[in-house]
Amino acid sequence: MNDPIIKTEDLRFSYTNAEGESPVVLGGVDLQIEKGSFVAVLGHNGSGKSTLAKHMNAILLPSGGKVYVSGTDTADEEKLLDIRRTVGMVFQNPDNQIVANVVEEDVAFAPENLGVAPEEIRRRVDEALQAVGMYEYREHAPHLLSGGQKQRIAIAGVIAMEPECIVLDEPTAMLDPVGRADVLRTVKQLNRTKGVTVVIITHHMDEAAQADRLVVMAKGKVVADGTPKEVFQDVEGLKAVGLTVPDTTELLWQLRQAGQDVPLDALSDEECARALYDLLNN
Ligand SMILES: Nc1ncnc2c1ncn2[C@@H]1O[C@H](COP(=O)(O)OP(=O)(O)OP(=O)(O)O)[C@@H](O)[C@H]1O
Ligand SMILES: [Mg+2]
Repeated sequence: MNDPIIKTEDLRFSYTNAEGESPVVLGGVDLQIEKGSFVAVLGHNGSGKSTLAKHMNAILLPSGGKVYVSGTDTADEEKLLDIRRTVGMVFQNPDNQIVANVVEEDVAFAPENLGVAPEEIRRRVDEALQAVGMYEYREHAPHLLSGGQKQRIAIAGVIAMEPECIVLDEPTAMLDPVGRADVLRTVKQLNRTKGVTVVIITHHMDEAAQADRLVVMAKGKVVADGTPKEVFQDVEGLKAVGLTVPDTTELLWQLRQAGQDVPLDALSDEECARALYDLLNN
């Protein structure tokens, strides 16, 4: 394994509620995110995904255990800026992440705050907008764009900080299918061409299936971790923690329940079609 860019060691966390109670939200998470990897995190509502994500750039600090970003303890207050520069966050609602009235000003906002020199900002803004396919919209008003376009602007804003890692918390949850596909393609491309490490939290099985690695959370713990092919084969296990599986896996699983000899790991549409073709021809 390459060096981990993010490492959690027995990470524990509780929020204290109005009644003064502190139910356990993260109950000991050990996770290493390898540099350059593309990791999806799945889990039922309330399983602790967002809480985990917020530990990845020190928005939250552990109640117990440790989180390291590039080897730096996130609890080290003096390193907060370094941590935020290394790991950028993108959230669900693009409207809450737009701060300026012109696209390119919006993208420039974060690097300006970091004190980056003006000519360097120009370069970064242009590059970030090109990377998300929104360069032609640089002089547009963000609030007139579609949800998917706005989310790509938000991603450009994070990229302009040149982070090594981007953590996206359900970035496609509020988008239509076209916007979803655009955002996912954008993120994938950043990973493949620029080597940006990506951690994406999603409720969409088809998005999770595209990751190199899939981490499943339930009740504040990691309950499965592997390639999508490996993880999705445990159909019963995933259903037991309130999740579904991709349509391809579900179909093959049903066929197996009915006694048919089909592979469970034919995850892509093409592989699944091939498995069905083979079944029908035998
Ligand atoms: N600010 C908060 N104060 C108190 N409790 C919280 C807070 N944020 C989350 N929780 C609780 O912590 C638990 C985990 O929440 P979290 O948001 O991490 O889950 P999640 O997996 O991201 O869920 P979802 O799929 O709904 O986004 C839930 O029981 C939630 O109610
Ligand atoms: Mg969440």
